[in-house]
Amino acid sequence: MKKVLVTGGAGYIGSHTVVELARSGFEPIIVDDLRNSHERVFKGLEHILGRKVEVHRVDCTDPAAMGRVFAQVKDLSGVVHFAAYKAVGESVAEPLKYYRNNVGSLLVLLELMAEYEVKHIVFSSSCTVYGQPEELPVSEEAPDRRASSPYGSTKMCCEQLLRDAHVADPSLAVVLLRYFNPIGAHPSARIGELPIGVPNNLVPFITQTASGIRRSLTVFGNDHDTHDGSCVRDFIHVVDLAEAHVKALTWCESREVPTCEVFNLGTGRGHSVLEVVRTFEEVTGRELPYTIGPRRAGDVASVYADPGKAERVLGWKAKLDLGTALRDAWAWERTLRE
Ligand code: NAD
Ligand code: WQD
Repeated sequence: MKKVLVTGGAGYIGSHTVVELARSGFEPIIVDDLRNSHERVFKGLEHILGRKVEVHRVDCTDPAAMGRVFAQVKDLSGVVHFAAYKAVGESVAEPLKYYRNNVGSLLVLLELMAEYEVKHIVFSSSCTVYGQPEELPVSEEAPDRRASSPYGSTKMCCEQLLRDAHVADPSLAVVLLRYFNPIGAHPSARIGELPIGVPNNLVPFITQTASGIRRSLTVFGNDHDTHDGSCVRDFIHVVDLAEAHVKALTWCESREVPTCEVFNLGTGRGHSVLEVVRTFEEVTGRELPYTIGPRRAGDVASVYADPGKAERVLGWKAKLDLGTALRDAWAWERTLRE
């Protein structure tokens, strides 16, 4: 079995990707120090996969500790790099922390990959690099905007670092995956998103409101330039997203001439925040208390993907709809409260 190092593999998207990698015949090896995840994910993974996954509780920015992981694991065929901080607001207040972790961890990885001759890397980027695109749906050819947050800047910086590393060593194959808005949870309800404190993102806030932990959702603005005034996003089921990583890694490994390629991972459909609220109520049968508040600073009105390149090149397409993702997110929330 091909061994794949999954940094941040205990996190939200990483844990779902670990499941899909294992199911596709890879041997995922997790590196995560649980700074933004929880022990319980390992029980969930074991339940879903019927076996334990190898875990190294290591800080990815620590070159010596990461060096020991590479020396111990041996014969890695590739790396999927999720480990990063992701809170946009926090990154404005603490940019250095974001650069140190998000860029620092990638530097450590790339140096070790060069030393150990590991030639495939799949990287978690974000639609945040597009800002508010001029044309929708947004394709990979759209110009990167000056990122609206230090978090976004770290993603642009990492993408550039990977492009430069590929130029310097053309045998290094790189896939940059720009996720739109990942939501939902594994259909088993054994793994899912575990936000620490008050959630920043819409769907965990909705599920926590529905379960009574939060009093009411505030919809940030109904005066945006969209069909109902609330923001429009491309919400993608985390299991669809996880499957794309397997396709990306397989494609990367099959290339005769290694390249550095970027792909959008979205559904191609935009849904407004108010549509998400309505769909949540429909699929769960629960009423969701909400009020309309002012716009949130930094929000773009509308962004959704042109996912055509991922379909043409990787043979990947999102299959699960918004209702399924919200139902799965709700099932996960209920498991957490049991
Ligand atoms: P997450 O916080 O749930 O997972 C990240 C994991 O990395 C956590 O388990 C955390 O403990 C670990 N980690 C972070 N820094 C580490 C370090 N230095 N050493 C060891 N472990 C470390 O986040 P997620 O939502 O799963 O996001 C995964 C990746 O996808 C991130 O790079 C994020 O920027 C990117 N991304 C996320 C979204 C989203 O909305 N969730 C959207 C676009 C891109
Ligand atoms: C979605 C919509 C809010 C909470 C973020 C990052 C992006 C990427 C994905 C990492 C927005 C509205 C939210 C609430 C609301 N992450 N909302 N009330 O901002 O689209 O994207 O996650 O790369 O970089 O910025 O996601 O879930 O925060 O918000 O009305 O309580 O829901 O205004 O329109 P966002 P989100």
